[in-house]
Amino acid sequence: MNTHHTIKLCDRCYWDTISETVALHHEIVPLTSNMKKLLKLLIANYNKPISSVDIFLHVWDSYEQEYTPRNVRNLISNLRKRLPCLNIVNYYGGSYMLKKNRESHPVFADHLIEILDQSKNGITISDPSQPDNPVIYINHAFANAFGYSPDEIIGKNCRFLQGDDRDQPALEELRKAMKEQTDVTVILRNYHKSGELIYNEVTISPVFDKKTHKLKYYIGVQKDVTSVQKLIQQIKGMI
Ligand SMILES: Cc1cc2nc3c(=O)[nH]c(=O)nc-3n(C[C@H](O)[C@H](O)[C@H](O)COP(=O)(O)O)c2cc1C
Repeated sequence: MNTHHTIKLCDRCYWDTISETVALHHEIVPLTSNMKKLLKLLIANYNKPISSVDIFLHVWDSYEQEYTPRNVRNLISNLRKRLPCLNIVNYYGGSYMLKKNRESHPVFADHLIEILDQSKNGITISDPSQPDNPVIYINHAFANAFGYSPDEIIGKNCRFLQGDDRDQPALEELRKAMKEQTDVTVILRNYHKSGELIYNEVTISPVFDKKTHKLKYYIGVQKDVTSVQKLIQQIKGMI
């Protein structure tokens, strides 16, 4: 179906401008005439927001029916159900827009690691399917904050940053959350390669496989909060 009268909507989905049909995985998707009118409008205004009123005027005969945002919302939601691969975004105030799907941005995907590498916060990804849940990715900010090279960290469990300082109540909270596979944010006492104490605010989130819903990775975002923590300790010492 990939000829001059088809428009690629996403990697698996094509709109045929002559027969006015959508093929998803080579199967024609049944759409009502209102859905088709809506889709045509979204395609014609690709990457541009369209107001709810404009959608209404385009799809319904305004003399037949009074405008209500709910009609438009319902139609959008029904179209999304039929074509879940489409990235139809809605904006506050009732505008809608057909956007390019993330998966059809290979250039962006290629640069994802570079983008993570440039984050000012530390970012780590661990693989819980491997023994002792080692880190498989760390960004520059994380490596720099602790004075290690990536090679010295990749393949290890992050607990080595605690050194011998293992009696930390926050660790209990962290273990519990990881056991329950939920997000957690804690402040841990960690140590730079030089031995210097660093208060590390770390948020750890489980990442699940979209299809199987099974735990796939953990992502950790680390922030050095040493100066604030030292100030808090000083204030506590004064009272
Ligand atoms: C993605 C990820 C990042 C983590 N980052 C840190 C960290 O920066 N500092 C730290 O002390 N612990 C970190 N941890 C926690 C430890 O790896 C470990 O889970 C924690 O010490 C509790 O387990 P344990 O009782 O086996 O040591 C991280 C864990 C995960 C999964």
